[in-house]
Amino acid sequence: GTTPLLDRLGRPLRDLRISVMDRCNFRCPYCMPESTYHEGFHFLAPRERLDFNEIERVARAASALGVTKLRLTGGEPLLRPGLAELVARLAGIPGIEDVALTTNGVLLERHAPMLRAAGLSRVTVSLDSIDPTVFARMSGGRPDLDAVLGGIETARGAGFPGGIKVNTVVQNGVNAAGVPELLAYFRHTGVVVRLIEYMDVGNRNGWAHADVVTSRTLLEQIDALWPLEPLSPHYRGEVARRWRYRDGAGEIGFISSVSAPFCGACSRARLSSEGQLFTCLFATKGTDLRTILRDGDPGDNDAALRQALTRIWHQRTDRYSEQRGEGDRPAPLAETGNGPKAGKIEMHYIGG
Ligand code: GTP
Ligand code: 5AD
Ligand code: SF4
Ligand code: SF4
Repeated sequence: GTTPLLDRLGRPLRDLRISVMDRCNFRCPYCMPESTYHEGFHFLAPRERLDFNEIERVARAASALGVTKLRLTGGEPLLRPGLAELVARLAGIPGIEDVALTTNGVLLERHAPMLRAAGLSRVTVSLDSIDPTVFARMSGGRPDLDAVLGGIETARGAGFPGGIKVNTVVQNGVNAAGVPELLAYFRHTGVVVRLIEYMDVGNRNGWAHADVVTSRTLLEQIDALWPLEPLSPHYRGEVARRWRYRDGAGEIGFISSVSAPFCGACSRARLSSEGQLFTCLFATKGTDLRTILRDGDPGDNDAALRQALTRIWHQRTDRYSEQRGEGDRPAPLAETGNGPKAGKIEMHYIGG
């Protein structure tokens, strides 16, 4: 890049999160409740999803504008056939330093070695509980806890250079009491567990403030069990606050999106599986890039794509989490273009 691309609040574009699959093999009640995502639900048809060429073209345009980190998400990204091929293509883009994956882990045992060989830097597994009953409840009745734990083992063994993380969304009265058990399981393994405050993303999770357990509460509780000390951030704008166990058992993190929003340094854009670009996790409206990608000659379109990304980022003013904290929550819009029917974008379109 030449001059860095900055949004209206002076934030650069560094991080592109790419949803490769709107479907998921779980039905976590806070994300894809079975009542809505049943057999009759209309997921995207394969033609409606960006193909690997199209995804690569967006990633190249983004990298030309300053993006260095890519993260593949879903739904469940491992349901996308041939994902390792996409990883290899993305890892080969000049300027891309880091290609990460967020997965529920069920299919990781099968795929981890191939993904590592393709150039995937690191893996983050979403896992909310290691208690089989709570796990089943939080995944929508899926009995796959052992497969997920096996997947994490396989991924550890595969030697991803950026390591393995576990993301745990903590919900009051659901899995909060099981946090120490989960942490104990991963102490001394090198796996970094990050505890996430439950957010009001999407439109279906019936979020209430009382469901949130703040990072401060958890920190005090954990520090009483295993004394902790803070670590400095890896980079400016890092989402998680890092801590280490004083006894040397490893590192954990806290993602305090509700109690301590981090919009000020937010450098993330999100691409949905059907090619809409969102500049905030809480956006009500994206910008369609698929039309540009599919319209006419790819050479001309790549220039148009870079122009579109530049224009979108220049206009960006998003800071939803901070506004919510200020009691100034923007009203969700009714119109969302080709996306979900109403309100905010759903998590399974953009993968968190
Ligand atoms: P690293 O690159 O490993 O530091 O990952 P990350 O923290 O950027 O991404 P990850 O997907 O692991 O994020 C974990 C969780 O943090 C997500 O599932 C969200 O709950 C929350 N989160 C991540 N990015 C944002 C964001 O831009 N805004 C808000 N409000 N929450 C976010
Ligand atoms: N609040 C916080 N994180 C969430 N995720 C899904 N829904 C929420 C929510 N309401 C996280 C998942 C996973 C990532 C894809 O998004 O746990 O780590
Ligand atoms: Fe659960 Fe993640 Fe699937 Fe949503 S995308 S249902 S949070 S596993
Ligand atoms: Fe970024 Fe929006 Fe999250 Fe704020 S709420 S950190 S602007 S994605």
